[in-house]
Amino acid sequence: MSQDSLSPNSITAGLGTRFIGRKILYYPELSSTMDIARKEARRGIAEGAVVIAEEQRAGRGRLKRAWLSPKGSIALSIILYPRISGLPYLVMLAALAAARSIEKVTGLKTQLKWPNDVLINGKKVCGILVETEVVESGPAYAIIGIGINVNFRVADFPEILDIATSLADELGGEVSRVKIIRQLLVEVEELYSALPDGEPIYQEWRGRLVTLGRKVQVKTGAATLEGIAEDVAQDGSLLLRQVDGSHTRIVAGDVSLS
Ligand code: BTN
Repeated sequence: MSQDSLSPNSITAGLGTRFIGRKILYYPELSSTMDIARKEARRGIAEGAVVIAEEQRAGRGRLKRAWLSPKGSIALSIILYPRISGLPYLVMLAALAAARSIEKVTGLKTQLKWPNDVLINGKKVCGILVETEVVESGPAYAIIGIGINVNFRVADFPEILDIATSLADELGGEVSRVKIIRQLLVEVEELYSALPDGEPIYQEWRGRLVTLGRKVQVKTGAATLEGIAEDVAQDGSLLLRQVDGSHTRIVAGDVSLS
């Protein structure tokens, strides 16, 4: 597939944001945008700076998994310096921003799966990874990593074929990555600027989750729990009602809908 250029200028020209995406660090290839973003955050780069890669050699997912980001993907990390009260909302706002921007640019309908997967027709199209360094006085920085499967055929990657989709597969043709990135940066800024009031973010995120009310299996550490995903709390945790009626709060895990 031919690819649109992700040059910093094509992203920033006329971009209607105040600080998110005003500075773009573009790499044709790197290990992970998270690593470069961390180095830049430690050096104190301006809030809202974005590291973008055409290709990642060692993209990371949640729970120490690898993240495949071949040519045609969106792989980016946004550097933020939030207050501690804002931390629980970063994952939610990133998932919402990705879902909104995919919907606005492509017209496709997305769903969210707890904690932060964006799905189309039940298959994963986008993943979110938030990494934070906290020091005694509060967070030193937070990095929101967003990976979106855009212009490649998932059929070319058998390892993700059963669980993932791409925008090109759903649309039957290519879509502009620049348009999606620009919309994404606008959405992130709008949502992030509402903090410390995280209530609207939490409500929209909760409302979009396909997980709630469903029978699920949750892999958390070595255990796999089964039950009904009853609710999510404002800190992002999942409340699971198990078969014996007991409730368990899950902070990190992986859900399969049954
Ligand atoms: C997940 O669903 O497990 C999270 C995937 C996050 C992938 C993105 S791609 C940009 C950034 N750089 C990485 O190495 N990971 C995140």
